[in-house]
Amino acid sequence: MAQCFNIAIDGPAGAGKSTIAKKVAAELGSVYVDTGAMYRAMALYLHRKGLDPREAENNPKGFEEKVTALCREPEISIEYRDGVQVVLLNGENVNPLLRTQEVSDMASRSSQVGPLRKRLVELQQKLAKTTSVVMDGRDIGTVVLPDADVKVYLTADAKVRARRRYLENLAAKKSGRDLSPEDLDLAAIEKDVRERDDRDMNRKESPLRQAEDAVLVDSSDMTIDQVVEAILNLAAQKKGRPQVITARTAGFCFGVEKAVAAVYEEAAKGGDIVTFGPIIHNEAVVDDLKAKGVGVIEKKEEIPAHAGGTIVIRSHGVPRDLYEELAHSGARIVDTTCTFVKRIHEIVWKASEEGRHIVIIGNHGHAETLGTMGWSSSPVTVIETREEAEQFSEDLSTPITVVAQTTFHSDKFEELVAILQKKGYNTQVNNTICNATHERQLEARKLAKRADVMIVIGGKGSSNTARLYEICKAECEQTCFVQKAEDLHLHLTGTEKLIGITAGASTPKNIIEEVQKDVRRTDF
Ligand code: DC
Repeated sequence: MAQCFNIAIDGPAGAGKSTIAKKVAAELGSVYVDTGAMYRAMALYLHRKGLDPREAENNPKGFEEKVTALCREPEISIEYRDGVQVVLLNGENVNPLLRTQEVSDMASRSSQVGPLRKRLVELQQKLAKTTSVVMDGRDIGTVVLPDADVKVYLTADAKVRARRRYLENLAAKKSGRDLSPEDLDLAAIEKDVRERDDRDMNRKESPLRQAEDAVLVDSSDMTIDQVVEAILNLAAQKKGRPQVITARTAGFCFGVEKAVAAVYEEAAKGGDIVTFGPIIHNEAVVDDLKAKGVGVIEKKEEIPAHAGGTIVIRSHGVPRDLYEELAHSGARIVDTTCTFVKRIHEIVWKASEEGRHIVIIGNHGHAETLGTMGWSSSPVTVIETREEAEQFSEDLSTPITVVAQTTFHSDKFEELVAILQKKGYNTQVNNTICNATHERQLEARKLAKRADVMIVIGGKGSSNTARLYEICKAECEQTCFVQKAEDLHLHLTGTEKLIGITAGASTPKNIIEEVQKDVRRTDF
């Protein structure tokens, strides 16, 4: 039998342990063991036997004696059905009954009783002997698996944890679960979280504490994916594999997210629906939408055929005359033009009406640039390169308004503007590169500086991804550009310490996740 690789995750209630442990286990092909659920199943049994949790305070000795006697009775076991842990209490699947306030309260109190813990710890240790597990609880790193390969102490601010539990309960209520009023009272939940912390940390039997060799992860300001990545990287380090770090800013920006969601929403309604140009520069998404009946039109002449349908304007925006033509086409128009692009259109329109010459620093032929050009009523010049900036010549008496394509390279924008300003023009400069793009580029550069290999994911036609590639390549020789996981042909030598991943604004999350998975599994 292959050697077991065990990960222990301890921490207070609501730190996200179970969600995270499940994901880590799925990534590593390990079994997730939720020990809290075992304590809960036992608590449910005690509750059914008529034990009152208040007795723990009124008559602690009596409570302890009753728990000690009762905890020997039930058969508690764990099964995995379709990859989900099912807790069986005397053969009954009690999973749906374990998350109520009553059971939580009883579990928190009864788990303080030594003999009950002894029974459950034995069961947990048996599970980890034969299979690689990711086990979460309160005493896993300290008592259950003191020799675990990776130990994490996962915590978060009590207020953050209470809010998370409240939102979870709200979602459960919406999906039809029967919950008590306290389950939906944020202040009551926070009070309960603090009381449970106090009991878990100050009990006599195996109190919750960070094992000396555990790594502290505070998830207050982290997303689930970031915590999962941090733990997978601890496991990678232990196995002598490179760490895989994905930029926080990788993937869909707010504008793209909104545009794509709007098209899926329209597709769900059915009927004739087309986008004017592909909604994003990503073949997988466009193909998926096509399968859902969403077509793409590219030319004005194609508009009349959809007069009775819905036409979506993509986030890149379109020229002014096209907006007008669409508005009068008879079709229902769903305008997903990014708000940052709309702002550029307004600047260009106003400045051109004042007779100013418009300079767009951006890519020739890019949909956003073409759309922006169409908002100028005076002459426009698109400048993409240093040479073009140097060759630019206009009457010095003509004032110039400069805007940037939202996804242009920030350093290059500064450089090209400096060249124009040196020529002595009266320039009014609007750095309209959107913040998301700027931050994505900064983070990509920082990550590429540290990385041995850098992977940039995005569509062929995505210019913001092409820019990310340029930025990363300048910092990390081993930078590769891929559209999807299958394009990746990594050749690792085994000496790599860090592999960085970033992705353009039009790269869907599932493609980023597939690449992450492939990278983590690549052999040396
Ligand atoms: O993680 P959870 O909230 O589902 O746990 C339920 C209770 O069980 C909690 O109050 C603490 C207790 N517990 C424990 O004492 N030791 C563990 N290993 C797991 C849970």
